[in-house]
Amino acid sequence: MGVTPKIAPSMLSSDFANLASEAHRMLNDGADWLHMDIMDGHFVPNLTIGAPVIESLRKHTEAYLDCHLMVTNPLDYVEPLRKAGASGFTFHIETSKDNWSELVQRIKSGGMTPGVALKPGTPVEEIYPLVEAENPVELVLVMTVEPGFGGQKFMPEMMNKVRMLRQKYPSLNIEVDGGLGPSTIGTAASAGANCIVAGSSVFGAPKPAEVISLMRKSVEKAQQTS
Ligand code: DX5
Ligand code: ZN
Repeated sequence: MGVTPKIAPSMLSSDFANLASEAHRMLNDGADWLHMDIMDGHFVPNLTIGAPVIESLRKHTEAYLDCHLMVTNPLDYVEPLRKAGASGFTFHIETSKDNWSELVQRIKSGGMTPGVALKPGTPVEEIYPLVEAENPVELVLVMTVEPGFGGQKFMPEMMNKVRMLRQKYPSLNIEVDGGLGPSTIGTAASAGANCIVAGSSVFGAPKPAEVISLMRKSVEKAQQTS
């Protein structure tokens, strides 16, 4: 399989007042990416951070900033996030059914990596055209909780989506987000997920490095046996 494991702590569970040191702590503990949850208080009932905070963090790290846009108008965020130094730009299909093609193009011309996310109630078939497009998304984020908050319970029934995607697209980056940790990673990894977002399980652990390493090993093991 051509995809590598990416462990992405969700900075939503960090101490936002000490974002740079929290980011350094996660990277020292073995994180590959930093997952940044951008919420507008409209697409989801929570309000978090935007481009100004990404810009501030970028001054303190060269890490891959995996931005997850839980916003109603993702197109409006492309230019500000490009300027701020975002790396990945993952939008929700539910907000972009009519303009995803333009959106993907703008994200790519901004030098960012385009990804698409889907809520638990959205059928996986809806994102096939985006993966098969001439200008495709490079990552699919399968939500394993309703977007909006950290600390929710993992929905194992979402693994059907992951399995279908992995079967169809062996080299696609498939990310899972919500309720991932030591007790759920095995299920997600064997379904075929390679990018793992985890907030409360990592930040809540006495030794985050151990949780990150356990999740990486689980993905590697699943890849070897698949
Ligand atoms: C939820 C966010 C997640 C969240 C995950 O809407 O997209 O990234 O921070 O947190 P945990 O791992 O605690 O479920
Ligand atoms: Zn997220």
